[in-house]
Formats: sequence, C-alpha cells, structure tokens
Amino acid sequence: MPASTPPLTTVLAERLTQAVTAALGEAYAGLDPELRPATRPEFGHYQTNLALRLAKPTGRPPRELAETLREHLELTDLCEPPEIAEPGFLNLTLRPATLAAAVTGLLAGDRLGVPAADPAQRVVVDYSSPNVAREMHVGHLRSTVIGDSLARVLAHLGHDVVRANHLGDWGTQFGMLIEALLDERADRTGAHDRAGSDNPAGSDKPAGPDDPPGAAGWPDLAELGRLYQRARTRFDDDPEFAERSRRRVVSLQSGDRETTQVWRGLVAASLAGFDSTYARLGALLTDADIAAESSYNDVLPGVIADLDSAGLLHESDGALVAFPPGFSGRDGGPLALIVRKSDGGFGYVATDLAAVRRRVDEIGVDRIVYVVDVRQSLHFDQVFALARLAGWLPQRVRAEHVGFGMVLGEDGRPFKTRSGENVRLATLLDEAVAKAAALLDERGSQLPEPERTAVAAAVGIGAVKWADLSNDLGRDYIFSLDRMVAMDGNTGPYLQYAHARLATLLRRADAVPSRVEVLEHPVEQRLALALTRFGEAVDEVGTTLEPHRLCTHLFGVAATLSSFYEACPVLRAEQPVRASRLALCDATRRVLATGLDLLGIVAPDRM
Ligand code: ARG
Repeated sequence: MPASTPPLTTVLAERLTQAVTAALGEAYAGLDPELRPATRPEFGHYQTNLALRLAKPTGRPPRELAETLREHLELTDLCEPPEIAEPGFLNLTLRPATLAAAVTGLLAGDRLGVPAADPAQRVVVDYSSPNVAREMHVGHLRSTVIGDSLARVLAHLGHDVVRANHLGDWGTQFGMLIEALLDERADRTGAHDRAGSDNPAGSDKPAGPDDPPGAAGWPDLAELGRLYQRARTRFDDDPEFAERSRRRVVSLQSGDRETTQVWRGLVAASLAGFDSTYARLGALLTDADIAAESSYNDVLPGVIADLDSAGLLHESDGALVAFPPGFSGRDGGPLALIVRKSDGGFGYVATDLAAVRRRVDEIGVDRIVYVVDVRQSLHFDQVFALARLAGWLPQRVRAEHVGFGMVLGEDGRPFKTRSGENVRLATLLDEAVAKAAALLDERGSQLPEPERTAVAAAVGIGAVKWADLSNDLGRDYIFSLDRMVAMDGNTGPYLQYAHARLATLLRRADAVPSRVEVLEHPVEQRLALALTRFGEAVDEVGTTLEPHRLCTHLFGVAATLSSFYEACPVLRAEQPVRASRLALCDATRRVLATGLDLLGIVAPDRM
C-alpha cells in the first residue's frame, strides 16, 4: 500500500456511502456513513448504525435495511463478510492481509498516515503569554504546554503556524514597578538624587542604563516577583507613592528616556526567566515569537477612533464602551465591553482588538487560536463579537478560544503552597524531575551519566506535560506528582517506557524488516488496527484543538502493546512471524515517538 493511499476509514466510509446510494437511490447519497470503531472486540473492527438511522426516513425495519445494505456493500477486497447485530448494526472486520498491508504502508511512508491539510491554512496560536515582572504560574504552564502541542500538531498537518506570545508587558502596573525599583535602587546606593543613579534593585554590580537590559546587575524574575509584591503594598498604603506611580505611567507612555530604559530592563530580565522555563519545558517559543502588548500601543487610539466612527462606542461614566451583540448582563440588559477606561487608559480589550486587526490585515491569518484560562472566555467571546461587528474579523477567519481549567492541589482547592502563595513553576518542575530520577533508580535503571540525568529530566517534565494534556481541556485537574510520575496507568512515564522498551527490543534484533506479511494473532491485529488510526487521531486534534484525543489514542496503542507482549513473543518467534512482528514493533515505536513529539514530550530510547 503506497503512502498516499487514503486511510482505511476513509475507504470504508466511501464504500458504505456507495452501498447506500446503490440500495436506496441518490436521495440518500449525502448521508454520513457513521462509521465508528467497534465498541467491543466481538463486534469486529468497525461498526455503523446506518440502518437504524435510515429506518425512519425510509419507513423500513432496521434489520431489513441492514441486510439490503450488506447486499450492496463491496468490501470483499478489504473485509471479512460483514455481520449484522441486533437491532440493525453492521459490523465490519478487516482481513488480516488488509491490516498487514496498511502497516507496511505506514512503514514505507514518512507521515505514518497523518493526512496533509488541504487547504493548508495560516494559523496564529496565541499562547503562554506570561506577564512581565511576575513569575509564570501553573496557568501559564498549562497555556505553554497545550499551546505548544497545538502548534506542533497544526504544523505537522502542514499548516503555516505563527506562534504568538502575547506578553503582558504594558499597563498601569509598570508605573509602580518602575517607581519602586528606582526608590530601592536609590536606597541601596545611598543616593538621594535618583537621577544620577542607575543601579536597579537586587543587583550587586551596578548596571548602567546603556547596559544591555537583562545583563548582570538586573534583578532576576524571582526578585522581580518580590519587587512587584512590595510595590503593590506601597501603592495601596502610601498615597504619595501611588501618585508618583501614576505620573510614572505618564512618563512611560510619553517615551521618557530613563523610564523607558528601566522598563526595557524589566522586560528583558523577565524574558530571561521565561526563556529558561521554555528551555526546560522544551517549548518551541523563542524571542522571535513575542508579540507583546506594548507593540500595539501606538495603534490603540486608531482602534478607538475607528470603532467610534463606525458608531459602535458609547460613553458610560467617563469610559468608552461597546455593546457587541449576544451578551446580557445580570440586569438582562446588553453587556458593556470597556474599550477605554475612564482615566483615558487602554486596557486588555483594546489591545486584543488591535491584535486581531494585525493578525488579519498584516499576518493574513485564516484561523486564530487563543490558549488561555477558561475564565477568560467571556472576554474572548466579546472581543471576537466586537471585532466581527467592526468588520475586522471576517467570517472566513475562525477565532477560537481554547479555554483550559484550573490546576488544583491535592485538597481540591486552587493550587497554593502551605503559606498560601502561588506555587513556583520552577520548584514544581524540580520536584517532578527528582521524582522521576527516584523512579528510575527504583526500577533498577542502569543508565550512565549524563544520560541518566537527561532521561530523568525527560521523564519528569514528560509526566507533568502528559498529565496536563491528557485531561479534558476545560476541566480542572488535581496536580498530584505521585500519580503523574508513575510507571503504570495513564501517565507520561508509562508511554515513554512503552517506547523505550520497543526501541531496546529493536536494537537487539539483527535487522528490522520493513514489511508485515503475517498477522494471525487477534492481539497483533488489534495493534495494527490502532496504528492505522494514528493519522485520524492527529487530524482530529487539528480540528477540535483537543490534545487529549491524541493522548487517548497513544494510551490505547501502549495498552494494546502490553497485551501484545503477553500473547506474542517477538525475538523468540519463528520466521516468518518474527519478521512481521519486528516490523509491527517498528511501526508502533514510530507512532509512539511521533505522537509524543507532537505532544512536546521527549521519548528516550532507553530508560
Ligand atoms: N497575559 C494574560 C494573562 O496572563 C494572557 C494573555 C492571553 N492572550 C491574549 N491575546 N489575551 O492572563
């Protein structure tokens, strides 16, 4: 079977559609053949409830319809004779030779049955998007992990993916941050005239305003997080500080040199921190993917002016608001969306409107995917609605908010440390990696350094990612390292181990054949069937934007693989079975490796 052969499911669906037309006429030609994977092994490989569906429109009993369809079905080249199950299901069982040829086809091509998107689209994936001077929290972890996986899947399907890190680097909070930074710097150097000093807080070595931002001497992200807390407290307690902070916002917005310099330092120091998290997570994001909030600053007045001249703005208590259709407030009246605050400042909404415009007009996008906490769904729904109303987001461009749930602690409450602070991402990853190292030791892993350290990192990080990706997106999930970093159950390490075990087996074989010729055992057949569905699973993630579907598929493959090992010896088998089993193992290894890679999870060759 050449690599370009359509997937088996597609062929079976076409044959069913032809049977419907042949049996009942053109009137039913457009019907969904409702081909589904069989729910139980005794039902074969696929089933369809077409006959049940057709009973009503045709006025004929389902059982009789099923028989008529069976008569018209041309499947002898692919399937055993179809069977009918009460009350009118048609069960299809692929012939072993069909499955064997399909796996051989997977091995011959380089896409493992993953279709190439047609037409390919330009897709912006807006993800990660942490805020400057704040450490990333678990919500940003989710966005980074989920967004990265979606970016990988969409690119693998052939789309032109533009990653967008909508960095939170602008807003009134920078007034108090810069003010606090300058104050603390003055205290440290003992200078009372701040204009002459240029050594920001947290530094041992003075960093001058012309030093590259982020150079030694700038506080790191953890220190900035603490600075942020101190600035907040002072802003709330000290009216004089609050007033200076407000003036500092004005200086920043008017491009004052010293202010801008300090702001740049804050951004760069934060980015250095984010980048190290990205590197650790193996995320694709680089500085080139940054589309920061500040980059829209200059066009915000134009956004407001255009909305205004389109007659879409209203004044409300000094603020400018719009009423995108379809939303109502608690009083049942239309729900206002604030696009300019009463103090004249622009906020999150205006920036997102500007981002939509740039993505459509300048980037030429066909689809925009926002990977952000589900609690922001109203924001996105309203922004999309207003952008459509303003004509900035044409109907042909899809805008989707991939909203994810919260991460909870083992007590089922929002994930906090014992002292009530947000859990630091770096600490969390450290713990996961330490647990992974312990797990490897416990299992008697004999890897030499530095491989051992690298594998522990891959397993720890992989465990966290798998837990994050394998859950239903919108649902909250409990962060339990013990459960994530376990070798059994639906975990990252289980999948990685399945892959490593295959790789080890294949290394031990003298040569790995590239064809599956015999496929007698039912478990072998089930494994082959699962492999032929890999492409569908990847394609589904591209459509639904739900990475857990790929996890479910891969977990199914790994579980079937375990049954296969129990029932079918590989290296000890006689020829020609041995050769076919080795080829089947090779195809399985490739599916697991590619699947894990699309989830952003490293698959070591041994563990
Ligand atoms: N910085 C925001 C936050 O931390 C997320 C931004 C998401 N992207 C967007 N285009 N609004 O909540």
